[in-house]
Amino acid sequence: MRAIDWRDDAVVIIDQTLLPERTTRVVVREPAQLVTEIRRLAIRGAMALGVAGAMGVALGAVRARERGADVLAAATDACALLAGARPTAINLAWGAQRALAAAPDGAAAVVAAALALRDADIAANRAIGRRGADLLDGARRVLTHCNTGALAAVEIGTAVGVIAELHRRRPLTMVYATETRPLLQGSRLTAWELGKAGLPHRILVDGAAAGLILAGEVDAVVVGADRIAANGDTANKVGTVAHALAAARAGIPFVVAAPEATFAATTYTGAEIPIEERHEDEVLFVGSRRVAPPGTRARNPGFDVTPADLITAVVTERRVLPLGRAVAGAAAR
Ligand code: MRU
Repeated sequence: MRAIDWRDDAVVIIDQTLLPERTTRVVVREPAQLVTEIRRLAIRGAMALGVAGAMGVALGAVRARERGADVLAAATDACALLAGARPTAINLAWGAQRALAAAPDGAAAVVAAALALRDADIAANRAIGRRGADLLDGARRVLTHCNTGALAAVEIGTAVGVIAELHRRRPLTMVYATETRPLLQGSRLTAWELGKAGLPHRILVDGAAAGLILAGEVDAVVVGADRIAANGDTANKVGTVAHALAAARAGIPFVVAAPEATFAATTYTGAEIPIEERHEDEVLFVGSRRVAPPGTRARNPGFDVTPADLITAVVTERRVLPLGRAVAGAAAR
């Protein structure tokens, strides 16, 4: 079952907020409803958001055709609505714009563009997995952050795809999945995926990662990305830069695995990447229980930026782009 797919002129997603307890499908028929699902993270992860952007525009086009309304105008409105739903993940706007480009040819062409993007995502992730595993073939104990598996894409995923491919070639001894506060994409989603795939794994609280890395218990860190600036600075789930700093100090590879679409050509440096600030209640509450004292406020940036000079390489479906931090030794070749 895919995290996102197109069926009977509707978008079908798995509600990721309910995982791992329940696997529930949500059928979405309107662009505005899809925006709501995206904002509450029922569908999330950079590549899945790219496909959601495209399929959301397709929803707008198809509904307009059904009403006898102007398909191009409806697709344009849907694109504007979706592109702004989450500001950091560039793939969302990219996917929406790709689908919109087909709108002058009618609703069927928009749907075809969205489905082509879905299929291209699967192929891209497969290639990223292979290239990443070539690069990190000496690593047997790998750490990852947030969720970059099939749930964050259509199939396979990016950093988790690299990890799975490494394991397929030669069994890994341990995958460390950081829990990823505040919404626990690592504990809820990555651990679920790793378990289903039969990979040896442990969850770490986010703050435990640096200590394990400095103690020599991790051979490589591999993460995904939500936006990569032209200079290689990379926005990813909040907490990522701490793992990069620890990896640099320990001299182990820190690799970003992401499709080419995650590069934002007109975002020149990390300082220009808009960081999504999410609601403070995600931090102040654990589930429905408030854990902070009454009156205490929180900041809740959803992402941070890892400077290019802390990154060993970005692996995409087309290339391995070496960045600022070369690493000698067996783990990265
Ligand atoms: O807020 P989310 O759950 O959409 O976070 C995005 C992510 O899953 C990541 O930052 C991920 O590492 C990159 S997307 C494969």
